[in-house]
Amino acid sequence: MLVEEKNALTEEIENYVDEFGTERSALLPVLQAIQRKHSYISDFAQQEVARMLDIHPVEVYSVISFYAFLHSKPRGRNIVRLCRTISCDMEDKKSVEDAIVRELGIRFGETTKDKRITLEYTNCVGMCDQSPAMIVNERVFTKLDPEKAVNILNEIN
Ligand code: FES
Repeated sequence: MLVEEKNALTEEIENYVDEFGTERSALLPVLQAIQRKHSYISDFAQQEVARMLDIHPVEVYSVISFYAFLHSKPRGRNIVRLCRTISCDMEDKKSVEDAIVRELGIRFGETTKDKRITLEYTNCVGMCDQSPAMIVNERVFTKLDPEKAVNILNEIN
C-alpha cells in the first residue's frame, strides 16, 4: 500500500471516529463504514482503528472474524456461495464443488486473481427439494451438475 493511500485511509478512519466516537461501541459502525467503502478491512485499516479507539488489534480482528458480513481480505466482484448443507451434500454437491474449483483454479474462501469471483460456502438456502444449490450474488441456481455450474460461472463478468 502506498504512503499516500495509507494517509488517505487514516484520514478517512479519523472522520469515521469523529462521527461515531472513540467508545468501544463505535467499533462496529466504524468497521462497517470502512467495509462499505472498500468492501473489506485491510490489516492497515485494522491497526488504525485499534490505535484510534485505543484497543488491541486482536480485538478488532476478532470482531471482523465474528461477523460474517465483515471481511479482512479483498473480495471479488461476484460472490458465489455453494450450499454445503445435508440435502445438497446428498445430491452430489461434491462433484459440483470439484468442477467449480477446477474451473476457477481457486479453493473455497479464495478470490480469483482478476477479482471476478469469490468462492464461499453457505448453509441451506431453502431449496433442498431442488438441490444441489448455489447463490451467485443474490440469485439462486438449483439442480446443479458440474457442467451447469461451470456454465453459470463462465457467464459472470
Ligand atoms: S441443503 Fe442445500 S438448499 Fe437446503
